[in-house]
Amino acid sequence: MSVASLISLLRLPVGEANVAALHAEANERYRGSVESRSESARPRLDGGLLRTARRFRTSTAGDVLNELHEGPWCDFLAEALARDCLPTRSSYIYYAPGDYVGPHHDVSQCEITGLVSLGRGGFTLSYPDVDVHAVDLDGFFEEVMAGSCDREVQLPLPANTVTFIPGTRLIHARRPSPAATVTVAACYILA
Ligand SMILES: [Fe+2]
Repeated sequence: MSVASLISLLRLPVGEANVAALHAEANERYRGSVESRSESARPRLDGGLLRTARRFRTSTAGDVLNELHEGPWCDFLAEALARDCLPTRSSYIYYAPGDYVGPHHDVSQCEITGLVSLGRGGFTLSYPDVDVHAVDLDGFFEEVMAGSCDREVQLPLPANTVTFIPGTRLIHARRPSPAATVTVAACYILA
């Protein structure tokens, strides 16, 4: 399955009650969250995966997220892709106003990453046509953060929906925004 078809196909409704429970769990776990910050890091490749500067907070999942991650979301993916699907890690990501994630690939445990933007939904920025081996990484990072990259594709994360992206293959990013938001991330590898 191509990256493009993965992007267009893999969305699953989460249900308002589950979204409310995720939201409550995210709020409850904020106290134990940790900062993920590497603002002075220069863009680099780590095993072929793009790493760039970022700033946000994250917490581990609780029971509500774990059950969705390991149960219905995993079953859906396995069926949709006709592959065995192994849940690896899941977390809440808290973006305060001004927080951001530079263009990156997810870590290797996130071959597929399920994203839920809690609240009114949102989007992630993606760069499906950028080859990290063929671009100047510093220049690409600067273009993305300045909003001037002409190969940018906005990928909607509709409310009450988990959107699955090929995390280790699709470069994605989030520029600083004035609004605070919480995103759920649920990772899988395919066997
Ligand atoms: Fe990511």
